[in-house]
Amino acid sequence: MSRSYLVGLAGNTQRPSRTLGLVEALVAEIGLRHPVDSEVHDLVDLGADLGATLDPRFAPPRLAGILDAIETADALVVASPVYKGAYTGLFKHLFDLIDPKGLAGKPVVIAATGGSERHSLVVDHALRPLFGFFGAAIVPTGVYGTEKEFLDYRPSHSALVARIGQAADETARLLRVHAGPAALARRA
Ligand SMILES: Cc1cc2nc3c(=O)[nH]c(=O)nc-3n(C[C@H](O)[C@H](O)[C@H](O)COP(=O)(O)O)c2cc1C
Repeated sequence: MSRSYLVGLAGNTQRPSRTLGLVEALVAEIGLRHPVDSEVHDLVDLGADLGATLDPRFAPPRLAGILDAIETADALVVASPVYKGAYTGLFKHLFDLIDPKGLAGKPVVIAATGGSERHSLVVDHALRPLFGFFGAAIVPTGVYGTEKEFLDYRPSHSALVARIGQAADETARLLRVHAGPAALARRA
């Protein structure tokens, strides 16, 4: 089976981060089910460059590298903390810099973390429409974790861990369908 290029992107603005822990767990679980070369980024990596960049053609090298990784990946794991009932502004800004056709057909796991269960629908009411706009192959199971479902910033509650496994199963199935000559050509 050919290896797939899996990119994780966490929209957290501070570390340590539950959102980063969630992305890392999803990437690791997918890697147990399908051969991947993976990398994980978070917005903390980008510092002030992200907010200061209004046109991707003028992105500084680190941001340009992450934009390129997002567009050339065979699959993405994206997650944001809930801020004021939605994804963070900087998370949205990053995807505003992505080519509208850059994610077409790409498997994308959507996930979020929040302080309470009340905002769990951010996955389906904010993240799903955003990646629907891009025409991504959104993984059916979205993942939402509340603060109390994490221990030391890693997913720990059994229901959350099970949901991560379900999303990973579905992503691995999609990668088996999507991986192949097209994915290799994109990276050539
Ligand atoms: C500015 C700000 C706004 C927030 N707004 C919400 C919110 O509307 N709903 C919610 O459930 N949690 C909210 N939270 C809590 C975070 O979503 C939660 O702590 C999240 O797990 C933090 O992720 P992190 O550990 O990756 O930084 C907010 C936190 C901050 C800092």
